[in-house]
Amino acid sequence: MIIKRYENNEQMSIKASEIVKEQILEKPNSVLGLPTGSSPLGMYNHLIAMYKSGELDFSSVKTFNLDEYCGLPTDHPQSYHEFMNKNFFRHVNLKPENIHMPKPDKGDQESGCEDYEKKIRQAGGIDLQILGIGRNGHIGFNEPGTPFSSRTHVIRLHQDTRQANARFFNSIDEVPKAAVTMGIKTIMRARKILLLISGESKREALYQLVFSSVNEQFPASVLQLHPDVIVLVEKSACTRLEKEYPFINNQLNI
Ligand code: GLP
Repeated sequence: MIIKRYENNEQMSIKASEIVKEQILEKPNSVLGLPTGSSPLGMYNHLIAMYKSGELDFSSVKTFNLDEYCGLPTDHPQSYHEFMNKNFFRHVNLKPENIHMPKPDKGDQESGCEDYEKKIRQAGGIDLQILGIGRNGHIGFNEPGTPFSSRTHVIRLHQDTRQANARFFNSIDEVPKAAVTMGIKTIMRARKILLLISGESKREALYQLVFSSVNEQFPASVLQLHPDVIVLVEKSACTRLEKEYPFINNQLNI
C-alpha cells in the first residue's frame, strides 16, 4: 500500500484525477468503480475540466457506483443517483448505457444485487475502484462486521454513519436506515484501488487503516491484502498517523 500526503484537498484531488486520467489513456474502455461523498468531489471537478479541455474522452468508459440508499427516489436531492448526475455524469460524455448504479428499490432486492454483480463480471471486472472511507472504517457502505466474502448486498446503516451523513439532510431522522452496497469481495476484485482520505475527522480511520490488524470490525483493513492500493491523504487527516510513523518525502510505503 502506498500512502501519499497532500497539503490540501485540492492537491489531493488533482493527483486523484491524474491517476484516473492515466487509467483511461492506457485503456480507453476502462471500467471504473465510483464513490460518492465529499472526498471525491474535487477529483470529479478536475475530471470534468479534463473532458472539457479535450484531454479525456469517456465515450468508451464504463462505470459502476459503489452504493445507494434504500428508500429514496432516484431523483431525491440526496440520492447517490442525483449526486453522481449533478457532480459528474451530466458534465462528461459517458454513454448512459455505460453508467451503472445499484437500484435498491427496483423489484426483488436480492436478484437486483446478483444482477449488479453479473453486470460487473460481464464488463470484464473493475479496472480502477475509487473509494472514500467512513469514520468507522466503512468502504462503500460495508459497515463494521460485514464479512470479507460479501458481494453486492443490502445493509443496515450504523448510527455513526447516519449521523455523519445527516449533514446532507434536514435531520438524522431523514437519513435512510439501509443501503445497497458492493461487497468487500466485489471491491477487492478490482485490479487497482485508489482510496481518498480527506479531513480531520478521518485521522483515526487513517491510523487504523495502517495499524489495525486485518479484521472485519474495521472493513478498510482488508485493503492491506490487496496488491495494488494507492491512498491519497490530505494533511489534516494525518495528524495521528504521522506521530507514530514519519512520512518520507510525503510518502509511506506499507
Ligand atoms: C458515505 C459513502 C462512502 C463514503 C463515505 C465518506 O458513507 N457511502 O462511500 O466513502 O460516505 O464520505 P465523505 O467523503 O463525505 O467523508
